[in-house]
Amino acid sequence: MSNYLAEHYLFIKSIHIIFVISWMAALFYQPRLYVYHATATPGSELYTTLCIMEKRLARIIMTPAMLLTFVSGSLLLMVPGILVSPMGWIHAKLFLVLLLAGYHGMLIRWMKLFQTGKNQNSQRFYRLINEIAPLLMIFVVFLVVIKPF
Ligand code: HEM
Repeated sequence: MSNYLAEHYLFIKSIHIIFVISWMAALFYQPRLYVYHATATPGSELYTTLCIMEKRLARIIMTPAMLLTFVSGSLLLMVPGILVSPMGWIHAKLFLVLLLAGYHGMLIRWMKLFQTGKNQNSQRFYRLINEIAPLLMIFVVFLVVIKPF
């Protein structure tokens, strides 16, 4: 198994990067939809259209891309030679990835508030939280490429 993974290391890493890009694209776009949604009148055509767009983005791209990022990342962890000392970068990376997954969960929760007409958060709130995923992603990429510790 580990021989097989080592032989296909670059292929698995490419797949990993493709799913990371898809997950990040969805995490960046979903809160932008909430910014428009926060000012739409519940029951209006725009409100209903945004509900559909958010649900499809979450179901078709955001959640599958997150799961496949985790699967491909876990396969990379099993490649011989990846988990060698110093391993601080991978612990830090996994912690930040956990925060990204928590943020993903919060986006789903806010989406459900819109669907049930119970959103209380302002447009400004969604503009602010929109910065979370790009910030976390920047740190993750520096960590995984530079491996500073
Ligand atoms: C459970 C989630 C994840 C795990 C277990 C994981 C694990 C890994 C591992 C073991 C590598 C190979 C490192 C190497 O070749 O030295 C890797 C590469 C990479 N990961 Fe992840 N990863 C995860 C999620 C993410 C996320 C969320 C991002 C971006 C936001 C990301 C970005 C990258 C990038 C850009 C590379 C390529 C680095 C390079 O070639 O130098 N990963 N990942």
